[in-house]
Amino acid sequence: MSIVKEVFDALYYIFPAYCANAAPVIFGGGTPLDLGRRFIDGKPILGPNKTVRGFISGIIIGTIVGYAQERLAPNIGLARGSVALGFILSLGALIGDLIGSFIKRRLDLEPGAKFPISDQIDFVLFALLFSFMVKPPTLIDAIIIILLTPPIHLSTNIIAYLLNMKKKPW
Ligand code: CTP
Ligand code: MG
Repeated sequence: MSIVKEVFDALYYIFPAYCANAAPVIFGGGTPLDLGRRFIDGKPILGPNKTVRGFISGIIIGTIVGYAQERLAPNIGLARGSVALGFILSLGALIGDLIGSFIKRRLDLEPGAKFPISDQIDFVLFALLFSFMVKPPTLIDAIIIILLTPPIHLSTNIIAYLLNMKKKPW
């Protein structure tokens, strides 16, 4: 199989997680998931940037993308993608993102502060972990996803920042 096809397949597989991770930037805001509460260390549990609306919109968008992949697949010769996979990848992505924030708060990093590697990869690692509940990717696809996600995530965030959609370029 050609490299281009392999990379396309890997990114197509993980696409619902990417959309789930991006949706909160557009639809998020409002009530924080931790309701402003603090953890036993006295620091915020997740902080104000992890919101209920962001979480729910991420799940909905990622699941819709899974549905679109399910409907498109037979037409364009792609076998993978489903509502169930879109949902589980999205849930994993959003939870991975929350775990990243939880760790950042324990390390005294301000909400929105840069936390290299973790900011770029947490969501996708948890999406891949959760994918085992529905249909995991091939090992080669998983490796491609893990290697390509940080540069893709960084570049899309810089674009969102330049378009004034995001406060920070990371
Ligand atoms: N967002 C949201 N709800 C979520 C996740 C994200 O509303 N569950 C929105 C917030 O507006 C957030 C933006 O998306 O500021 C970017 O998300 P992210 O970079 O993951 O969060 P940070 O602002 O960096 O916050 P943290 O330091 O907690 O990671
Ligand atoms: Mg951030």
